[in-house]
Amino acid sequence: MKTRITELFGIEHPIIQGGMHYVGFAELAAAVSNAGGLGIITGLTQRTPELLAQEIARCRAMTDKPFGVNLTFLPMVNSPDYPGYIRAIIDGGIKAVETAGNNPQKWMPMLHEAGIKVIHKCTSVRHSLKAESIGCDAVSVDGFECGGHPGEDDVPNFILLPRAAEELKIPFVASGGMADGRSLVAALALGAEGMNMGTRFMATEEAPIHANVKAALVAASELDTRLVMRPLRNTERVLRNAAVDKLLAKEKALGAAIKFEDIIDEVAGVYPKIMKDGAMEVGAWSCGMVAGLIHDVPTVKQLIDRIMAEANAIIGQRLARLAGFASA
Ligand SMILES: Cc1cc2nc3c(=O)[nH]c(=O)nc-3n(C[C@H](O)[C@H](O)[C@H](O)COP(=O)(O)O)c2cc1C
Repeated sequence: MKTRITELFGIEHPIIQGGMHYVGFAELAAAVSNAGGLGIITGLTQRTPELLAQEIARCRAMTDKPFGVNLTFLPMVNSPDYPGYIRAIIDGGIKAVETAGNNPQKWMPMLHEAGIKVIHKCTSVRHSLKAESIGCDAVSVDGFECGGHPGEDDVPNFILLPRAAEELKIPFVASGGMADGRSLVAALALGAEGMNMGTRFMATEEAPIHANVKAALVAASELDTRLVMRPLRNTERVLRNAAVDKLLAKEKALGAAIKFEDIIDEVAGVYPKIMKDGAMEVGAWSCGMVAGLIHDVPTVKQLIDRIMAEANAIIGQRLARLAGFASA
């Protein structure tokens, strides 16, 4: 399938694997790229630019296909060494960067001079237009369903994607709630040029995370996520567990007076314990409503091949028949 996104990134299928903290290691990024999508290494999961350079080299040894790096700009007390990370990205020959969290304007000249295409993740039309105006090559439009940070506007993809299509000139992918061939066809119908998946890629054989996390995703339904940190205007969609219930009880009790320090035990430094050790109750971890559509743990290639076969069948058979095309 050819779209403006496959052309932009030089990939076979219009499927991107979004950056995921403690999930987006070389193994997953390489598997996605080898299967014809765009795999993405999560930059900040690597504690230093040197470690990111090593991770890029490790990924390069596993695939000769294009892959990208996610750079998340977070409101942090001690800002990470972003210039160092960007140097590692450029020196590593990376040609695709997914930015998220904050406006990447400051870094655009450096990235573009190195021939890097930038796809910025946005949760609103206004942020998408801003991304377009500062020269981003594409956007990933992240609806309210998404795992991770859906923003504060709460607009689901059935509205957000066609709104983005009405306003944007640059291509965009649908992100949030994407799982299968049906998602891809729907995303294309709503004006997107492909899709970005996070949660669905966690439940694959190659995702280098503990089997407990994958089992939790298969067991979860679409009713099992919760929004945390809303009072801090840093809303995150996570899978419900004991720590999340505790966190929400604190939010209820403290109301508007809540500070980040009050919930630090439930959110800070918990990812390695969950993703590596499989300690499922220790803290809050990002997970999309799409968990309700995850019923198995295939290889990445099986997943992507299945998505493309299903999408092609929906378009070429079901939709063609419904529309009355003679050849269907
Ligand atoms: C476990 C997990 C960790 C994530 N970490 C990041 C991150 O560090 N940076 C980022 O930009 N997005 C992050 N995301 C968001 C994904 O890149 C993607 O936008 C999102 O998962 C899409 O929604 P979906 O889960 O419904 O597919 C994360 C998502 C998950 C599930």
